Amino acid sequence: MLRVGVLISGRGSNLQSLMAACDTPNFPAEIVCVISNKADAKGLDYARADSIPALVISHKDYPDRQKFEAALNAQLEFHDVQLVCLAGFMRILTAWFVERWRDRLVNIHPSLLPAFPGVDTHQKAIDYGAKLAGCTIHFVRAEMDHGPIILQAAVPVLHDDTEEALAARVLKAEHKAFPAALRLIAEGRVNIINERVFIADAVPSGEALFNPKA
Ligand code: GRF
Repeated sequence: MLRVGVLISGRGSNLQSLMAACDTPNFPAEIVCVISNKADAKGLDYARADSIPALVISHKDYPDRQKFEAALNAQLEFHDVQLVCLAGFMRILTAWFVERWRDRLVNIHPSLLPAFPGVDTHQKAIDYGAKLAGCTIHFVRAEMDHGPIILQAAVPVLHDDTEEALAARVLKAEHKAFPAALRLIAEGRVNIINERVFIADAVPSGEALFNPKA
């Protein structure tokens, strides 16, 4: 069983999807701690309801990023975490933390990277006129929203989409994508070679997704 620590800052719907996956029979990973930098993060309640250790480590209690991250790191080590999942964690991590957890730190980003890194991804996709949007699960590197891609899921952008409608469509895909990526990692099938991810016995998605329909 791969021991997973999840870092959150808010709603925690991706955390919920990871928890649900870990609760299914024979899933090869378990969530051993959840850490939020915000005390009012809803995700903390989900973790506690499932008896998962849920901690608040507020960045405001530390004089600088390094000390905040040292506290995060200490808790992850205390819980013998082997893989860290960033699930809506809204703090930028320094190169020190990223290197400490190199190839054992994954993030979910709500766009098809390298398109639209950063915030407001859905509005950016709509404004650009992109016909497909989606989400990306990737290993974290020091550069924000950058790093070897494990898995992506695409959804259509509709002509009358609002930011909220597109966000909801992407979020639904996120809730499948993150557990799927976690399973691949926990099964030991994910290899990084020259900063590209290769997945042993990967089953490629069968069809191209066209939007509009071709
Ligand atoms: C998700 O859209 C995720 O891709 C992004 O932050 C959001 C977190 O949502 N990194 P939730 O807290 O998991 O509901």
